[in-house]
Amino acid sequence: MASQKSNSDTLQQLKAVVRRFPLVPVHGVPLMEPIAQQWARVENFEARPDDLVVVTYPKAGTTWIQEIVDLILANGDTEKTRQAPTQVRMPFLEYCVPPPFPSAIDRLADVPSPRVMKTHLPFQLLPKSLLEKNCKIIYVARNAKDNLVSYYFFDQMHLMQPDPGPWDGYVKKFMEGKVPWGSWYDHVQRYWEERENHRILYLLYEDMKEDLAREIRRVKDFLEVDLPEDIVQTIAHQTSFQVMKDNPMANYDTVPDFIFDRTKSSFMRKGEVGDWKNYFTVAQKEAFDADYLHKMKGTTLHFRDVL
Ligand code: A3P
Repeated sequence: MASQKSNSDTLQQLKAVVRRFPLVPVHGVPLMEPIAQQWARVENFEARPDDLVVVTYPKAGTTWIQEIVDLILANGDTEKTRQAPTQVRMPFLEYCVPPPFPSAIDRLADVPSPRVMKTHLPFQLLPKSLLEKNCKIIYVARNAKDNLVSYYFFDQMHLMQPDPGPWDGYVKKFMEGKVPWGSWYDHVQRYWEERENHRILYLLYEDMKEDLAREIRRVKDFLEVDLPEDIVQTIAHQTSFQVMKDNPMANYDTVPDFIFDRTKSSFMRKGEVGDWKNYFTVAQKEAFDADYLHKMKGTTLHFRDVL
């Protein structure tokens, strides 16, 4: 009874601080105001050598790879992974809402090793300690147009992200990197280059859609976890779109409606490759492609079905 009351008090307190936060540049990268306000704490985050970091540009399949990693580390035991929602199992390094709520940095200090965390930070903003301690990083990139469409719907539903505004303007904002966590183009290319210098496993959303078991094997090899093939197959099943969509511990069902407006979109929206074709006009596609070729010129990073 008492805990029910404190739960509802916490929700009321949370409701009071929820709003669409403005973007504030941090070393030139637009981040939500509360993150910018606690930036010194993020920058000075103390890594441990066995920390594992899942990194993505927002909406590239973060939750998907988190579920895969957690199941690999749990040897496919869903009883373990279904004990808590994604955001509790893997703290979101830089994320915070205004006080009195503890930030992920506060929570991470109490997490026993080995810790797994998620971040959307571009490479140049990663806390130095993570690189000095040579922590393993798993990066997932998704083709720009599908990533953009997914972000557009997410920004509508997530009532702490800036309002995406109308579709046409949003396409421009994305191209200019004027969205939370900045430029998609810089993000995906920089980690691609840095994979040569650090322990970075670089995955593509489209490859995961093509052959999930193959990509799970790459992850488990990178993590040096020995798993028999039947467990790999179990993990592939457990992390299929539909099973995750039905799993309240992996689909963000636990986030209250005053933060996720589910009348706008669902978190597990479509999970497809090429959905952008349903939204881009011919003119938008042409402008986007010309700009894309310019920004991605010279990179060896290639996405399929993107132009
Ligand atoms: P859509 O909006 O295109 O459906 P993130 O976790 O980085 O926020 O990314 C969310 C996107 O990944 C959403 O894309 C979501 O549907 C998709 N996604 C999540 N789990 C998935 C899965 N198991 N298979 C395919 N896509 C998945």
